[in-house]
Amino acid sequence: MAQEDVFKKIVSHCKEYGFVFPSSDIYDGLGAVYDYGQNGVELKNNIKQYWWQSMVLLHDNIVGIDAAIFMHPTVWKASGHVDAFNDPLIDNRDSKKRYRADVLIEEQIAKYEEKIDKEVAKARKRFGDSFDEAQFRSTNARVMEQQAKRDALHQRYADAMNAMDLNELKQIILDEEIVCPISGTRNWTDVRQFNLMFKTEVGSTADGASTIYLRPETAQGIFVNYLNVQKTGRMKVPFGIAQIGKAFRNEIVARQFIFRMREFEQMEMQFFVKPGTELEWFKQWKETRLRWHKALGFGDDAYRYHDHEKLAHYANAATDIEFKMPFGFKEVEGIHSRTNFDLSQHAKFSGRKIEYFDPECNESYTPYVIETSIGVDRMFLSVMCKSYTEEQLEGGDTRVVLKLPAALAPVKLAILPLVKKDGLPEKAHEILNRLKFHFNCKYEEKDSIGKRYRRQDAIGTPYCITVDHDTLTDGCVTLRDRDTMEQSRVAIDQLIPMLEEKVSLTALLKKLQ
Ligand code: GAP
Repeated sequence: MAQEDVFKKIVSHCKEYGFVFPSSDIYDGLGAVYDYGQNGVELKNNIKQYWWQSMVLLHDNIVGIDAAIFMHPTVWKASGHVDAFNDPLIDNRDSKKRYRADVLIEEQIAKYEEKIDKEVAKARKRFGDSFDEAQFRSTNARVMEQQAKRDALHQRYADAMNAMDLNELKQIILDEEIVCPISGTRNWTDVRQFNLMFKTEVGSTADGASTIYLRPETAQGIFVNYLNVQKTGRMKVPFGIAQIGKAFRNEIVARQFIFRMREFEQMEMQFFVKPGTELEWFKQWKETRLRWHKALGFGDDAYRYHDHEKLAHYANAATDIEFKMPFGFKEVEGIHSRTNFDLSQHAKFSGRKIEYFDPECNESYTPYVIETSIGVDRMFLSVMCKSYTEEQLEGGDTRVVLKLPAALAPVKLAILPLVKKDGLPEKAHEILNRLKFHFNCKYEEKDSIGKRYRRQDAIGTPYCITVDHDTLTDGCVTLRDRDTMEQSRVAIDQLIPMLEEKVSLTALLKKLQ
C-alpha cells in the first residue's frame, strides 16, 4: 500500500477510535488545531510521563517547572523572536492562497529526488540481483542530469536562505516554473517575512492595553526562571530545568495532521553547564535522547540524526532526531548547544546579573546551555504511525492492531466476562476493583468475545482478561496477548505482579539505566 494511503488510514483511525479529533469538529474544524479524545489523552499523558520521569526522576540534577504561557513582552525582544522568528511567505494572486516560499522550493527539490528514485527503482526491477545502485547513480545519464539540477537548486536555495535574500527566493520560484497547486498559475507576489507569533492584549483598552504574545516555545520560561530555580533549589552547575507545556505558532503551511500545528505541546529541558564543556555535554545529550527513543522498541532504523550545517548565530552545535514517518524522515526532537546567548540577552534586557558563582573554580560566569526540545504531538504521531498495523489472519480475516509500547498504551487491560450472566459480570467487576488501582483497565461485556478483542486491538490494549465459568471455581482467568493473540491461564492473584513487569512505566524506565 502506498505510504500516503497508510497515513490517511492512520488519520481516520485516530478519529474513529477516540485518539485525535479536529478542533471544533461540529463547525468543520479549525486549521492545524486538534483535540485529543478519550484514548488520545491517555497516550499523550503516558508519553509526557515517560519523558518527565526520565528527566526528573532519573537525574538528581534536573528539576521541573511549570511557567505561565503569557510572559513579559520584553522576553521575546530579548530572545530575538520579535525580530527574527519569521517565515518567508508568497501569495498566488489567482487562488489567493498563501505559501511558504522555502517549502515550495523544498518540494521542488523533493520532485527531482523522486524522479531519481523512480529511475533507480525501475532499473532495480530490470536488473534484479545483479543491480549495483551506486554504479547506476553515477553513470546513468538521466539520473545524473536530474541530480545535477537538484544539486544546483539546493545550493542556490541554501545561499538565498542563508542571506535571507527574499528577491532571490522569488526568482528561484519563477525560474523553476513552480505553479500554485490550486490555480495552476505562476502569478506570484513578492516574498515577504511573516512573524509566527500570535499576539493578544492584556488589560482593557481604556487602561492602555499592552500587546503580549502566546509563547512560541516553552524554553524562555526556563531561562527567565534560571536564577529563581538555581537559588531556591541550591542547584550546582551542571544542572537542568525541565518543562512540559503548550506553545503557539501561526504556521502558514499547516499540513500532515498533528505534525505541524498552531497550538502544540513541547517537552523542553535546558541543561546549564560550565563554558568550555558544552560540546561534551551536547554529545552526551544527543546519545541520551536517542536512547530514550530507541527504548520504545520501534527498531534502530526508525531514527536518524540530522546535524545542522547552518547554525543559528548563537548556537555552536545543533542536531535533530528524525523519525521515519510515512511521509519520510522528519524532525521530532532538536538538541541544541545554545551557548550563553539567552541568559546573556535576558541579563542585558532586564538589567539583572544572571551568573553562577562556581565554588570549584572560584569564579563567576554565565552558564552555557544544552537544550533538548521535543514536540509531544510529533512524538504522538510517530508512535501512532509505527504502531498501526493491518494483519491478515488465518481464514482470510484481517485485523487492525495498534502495537503500542505497552507502557504507553491508553488502556493496559480489558476485563471481559465471557457471557453477561451466571455471575461472570460480578466476578469480572470484583477483579476490576482489585486491578484498577494498579492499571488503567476497561470493562466490556457487550458483543461477542471476538468483537471485543478486535476493539481492544484497535486501541492498542496489550492484554485482555476473560472471565469464564471455570474462573468461579479455579480462581484463574484467560490472559490474551495483543500481539501474538496467544492465550494462557493465569491465577488472579498473579495478575498484578505479572502485568506490572509487562506494562508499567517503571519497566520501560529501567531500560534507560
Ligand atoms: N526551543 C527550541 C525550539 O522550540 P524547534 O525546533 O522550533 O525548537 C522543537 O521546536 C520541537 O517542537 C520540534 O522538534 C517539534 O517536535 C516541535 N514543534 C515545533 N513546531 C511545531 C509545530 N508547529 N507543531 C507541532 N510540533 C512542533
